[in-house]
Amino acid sequence: MKKEKIIVTGGAGYIGAHTAVELLQSDYEVVIVDNLVNSSKSVLSGIAEITGKQPAFEELDLTHAGKTNPFFHKHRDAKAVIHFAALKAVGESTRLPILYYKNNIGSLLNVMEAMKEEQIPHFIFSSSATVYGQPESLPVTELAPVQPASSPYGSTKQMAEVIIRDTVKTGNQPASAISLRYFNPIGAHPSALIGELPSGVPNNLMPFITQTAAGVRKELKVFGRDYQTSDGTAIRDYIHVTDLARAHVIALERLLKGKNQAAYEVFNLGTGKGFSVLEVIHSFEKSTGVKLNYSFTDRRRGDVESLYASTELANKELGWKAECTLDEMTLSAWNWEKKLRNLQ
Ligand code: NAD
Ligand code: UFG
Repeated sequence: MKKEKIIVTGGAGYIGAHTAVELLQSDYEVVIVDNLVNSSKSVLSGIAEITGKQPAFEELDLTHAGKTNPFFHKHRDAKAVIHFAALKAVGESTRLPILYYKNNIGSLLNVMEAMKEEQIPHFIFSSSATVYGQPESLPVTELAPVQPASSPYGSTKQMAEVIIRDTVKTGNQPASAISLRYFNPIGAHPSALIGELPSGVPNNLMPFITQTAAGVRKELKVFGRDYQTSDGTAIRDYIHVTDLARAHVIALERLLKGKNQAAYEVFNLGTGKGFSVLEVIHSFEKSTGVKLNYSFTDRRRGDVESLYASTELANKELGWKAECTLDEMTLSAWNWEKKLRNLQ
């Protein structure tokens, strides 16, 4: 039997598509809305092939209130919105701050206003561990203070969290919301039918590794080998995108069943384990058997030394735990890259 209708904004994107798969496999009715600014319609066939179900899809720009409102009116029977839609390139956001504020904040305001108008009760938001900056102690808990953002992209996540908290407080719809602070999502669906599709030169480590291994890039540059870490390279909490996607379904069910402890809640989504850049490279080489061409260069501006999550709250309250190992993450990312490039 079909469950509630859920609107997934940005559902053609990397994390949204994996979440749409998990929702469909849990029998939710899924409506994806995306303007395809950083994704492609072909993702929809990947989702359909994996699940055997076709999600509804509407192509529209959520910064356009005149188009957003009729869309929400049409889907006013939806019980929740999972809001992935955003621009996410940290470097680009420093060059084009207005674009980032307009897109990420403008779309959020339109979506929340439409939810109030159509009385849609539950909201889940894609936040980021970037809100913590370099925390004073690790693993970082949800109670750690939010630090001044190092980019306009980071600012949009901080502002969005405040906007959602204040909106939920009014007692109007959406009546309950959860912000999920992702650490470093990597990997792809085990079917290799959906995965990350970076446009142009990737900014992030994992797609840069797989593209280098595939021969698209000549060499991976490791940013900094003078950090105060065991091997001198920076540490992050890498989490498999399928583990992350699964957490969204659990968070959704928490809201639908009224199991939330407060109208607005925040959870870290990570594995709780930090890995250095070199450890990720070694995992990739081990799990795939492919040797990677890399060299060291200066630190990247704005990067923190070490960041990994305390997952205690998500474990206890959501009953969720990331399950995949780093080797499974790096191997699935490679299988996806190979499929994209028709490599053996
Ligand atoms: P993505 O770019 O693959 O997906 C975002 C989707 O939103 C894209 O399909 C894009 O076309 C769509 N979109 C953007 N602006 C839109 C608009 N105005 N109207 C309609 N659709 C719009 O990114 P992702 O990696 O899947 O990230 C999803 C969310 O998670 C984003 O909010 C991102 O900021 C957040 N996040 C991502 C990471 C990460 O490392 N990938 C880390 C922390 C948080
Ligand atoms: N790195 C390299 N070479 C590269 C790319 C990355 O050495 O070519 C290093 C970075 O310096 C960093 C690590 O690999 O130490 C991870 O870098 P990513 O760019 O993959 O990820 P970040 O931790 O910098 O940022 C990611 C997302 C942001 C999000 C943040 C939250 O890109 O959107 O996680 O922690 F805000």
